[in-house]
Amino acid sequence: MTEMVSNEKLLALAAEARDHSYSPYSHYSVGAALLTKDGKVYQGCNIENASFTPTICAERTAFFHAIFDGVRAFSKIAIIGSGELPAFPCGVCRQVMSEFCDGDFVIITSNRDGSRVVTETLDQMMPHRFGPKDLL
Ligand code: THU
Repeated sequence: MTEMVSNEKLLALAAEARDHSYSPYSHYSVGAALLTKDGKVYQGCNIENASFTPTICAERTAFFHAIFDGVRAFSKIAIIGSGELPAFPCGVCRQVMSEFCDGDFVIITSNRDGSRVVTETLDQMMPHRFGPKDLL
């Protein structure tokens, strides 16, 4: 089912989501597109705040969008920033991924014009992470 959405298509949906970014402080816009295990896509963008700390990243916006909708199973996420380097997810977003995703969850990150793409699993990006299993 998840193969129905290619990495390229997911990156295009992340780029579309980036257009919704509210980032008047950093001027760094980010978009994310999160693919569920049953083939649905949830988008997110970064949303900043004058008080700075309430700022939320594109990845978490996409996850919370899906979680609110009752979805709990995810296969991959595409992220696109507006800088020269691919937009790697911050530690807080990796922790949120750890809550809902297995180690084989795929993270595809890209830069401004899509000329640089890095694809890794959650295991690769956040080894030895703390998660729900630790509270058993
Ligand atoms: N940001 C994201 O949305 N995702 C990332 O992966 C890295 C950082 C946002 C947060 C903030 O609005 C801006 O980028 C600069 O840090």
